[in-house]
Amino acid sequence: MTQVSIVGTGYVGLCTGVLLAELGHEVTLVDLDPSKVQAVKDGRAPFHEPGLDEALKQQVTSGRLDATTDTQRAVDASALTYLCVGTPQDETGAADLTAIEQAARDVGKALAGLDAEHVVVTKSTVPPGTTRDVVRPAALQAAGDHARGRVSFAMNPEFLREGSALSDARDPDKIVIGAEDPATGRAVEALFEDLEAPIVHVDPSTAETIKYANNAFLATKVGFANEMANVCEAVGADWVDVAEAIGLDDRISERFLRAGLGFGGSCFPKDVAAIAHVAREHGVPSGILDAVLEGNEVQPLRAVELLEAEIGDLAGKRVALLGLSFKPGTDDVRRTRAAPIHDALVDRGAEVVCHDPQASSTFHELRPDATLAETVEDALTGADGCIAQTAWPAYAELGPDRFQAWMVTPVVVDGRRVFDADAMGGSSVTYRAIGLGGQAPDS
Ligand code: UGA
Repeated sequence: MTQVSIVGTGYVGLCTGVLLAELGHEVTLVDLDPSKVQAVKDGRAPFHEPGLDEALKQQVTSGRLDATTDTQRAVDASALTYLCVGTPQDETGAADLTAIEQAARDVGKALAGLDAEHVVVTKSTVPPGTTRDVVRPAALQAAGDHARGRVSFAMNPEFLREGSALSDARDPDKIVIGAEDPATGRAVEALFEDLEAPIVHVDPSTAETIKYANNAFLATKVGFANEMANVCEAVGADWVDVAEAIGLDDRISERFLRAGLGFGGSCFPKDVAAIAHVAREHGVPSGILDAVLEGNEVQPLRAVELLEAEIGDLAGKRVALLGLSFKPGTDDVRRTRAAPIHDALVDRGAEVVCHDPQASSTFHELRPDATLAETVEDALTGADGCIAQTAWPAYAELGPDRFQAWMVTPVVVDGRRVFDADAMGGSSVTYRAIGLGGQAPDS
């Protein structure tokens, strides 16, 4: 059993804390905001993540998970500290390291009077070199001479997906440990001895690079799928069939080949931009990464183009926008593709009525002027066209009869291949879908 403190009670900090407590470690979460600390103690995550509230409550009740605003207290009660603070994107595309540097300094200060050994582990997604060149010096400078030689550093990236974070944490496909020396690596590895995943030992900068490469590759795969899907539309092929077939090649795999209106969320867009920025800083061409980002800006507008191709000028037309979150299963609208679609429709003079089963209020914060419907029926009633932006399972149940009954002209653009293409194509609904070439026989 290791006593662990975790700085930051965001997504990564909370999921890491729950996992480590479940693995039998004693965990203290630190956040400077007392309301966040209270929320953790009450077993309330400040965001929607399936199973997290229950798991939090269970670990708090078991006594293995606690939270405090007092960094000193948490660090004193631990042998290892995780840094799990945000690294948002700055205006140049680079990762903003202010919070992680401050967290390293705070932990360093708490380590100043330390007599025991302590490991500081970066878990935030940070550019290669950050643990060595930012975290380490900030912590050691604040800790002072007394702590020198007793504090060591590592980087241990996370690969959790929103919506399945806990199951991803409990059953990871790998655990990457970038430690500055073998003993530190062993201390981090000991935390996960009850998990079965392969452990990859590297140096801290390599661990940091692995995280970016992982996300950048997946985003590139999605970007590739989107581009090929557009080709499929032009040549009369169906990307769903193409993806299924090429996915059978285990060098490719079928995962992350779903074409759509682009990727969103707090990670892919930010991380691809950050690693492209790192490449540029080093004079390394980043053509692939730049193309992925550019394609991702254009892709949402495909939905608007497809709608225009069917109903012409959108001025004065009523358009239902179904799905506002960046993916199903979350109320997170960060970098959601719904925003550029909404804006493009409004720019063209359309009356846009939005719906989402979970993300209406978060989208309202993003676009306070957006019109939000309570139900799908309200959104579709009287509409001249519809764009599906998020593949919510509830939308998949909408058959052509609903669109025919509710809409003035049943024109549906399926941006995520959420509807049954055969049922739609065989009905009087005008159905256009990303990656689906050819027209229904009667359209
Ligand atoms: C992503 C990674 O998948 C995680 O491994 C990583 O830990 C996390 O970022 C992070 O860095 O914190 P997440 O942003 O939660 O996780 O969401 P994903 O499920 O990866 O989806 C990202 C975006 O890609 C979504 O907009 C989704 O709709 C889109 N996507 C994904 C597709 O368009 N097609 C696909 O086949 C898969």
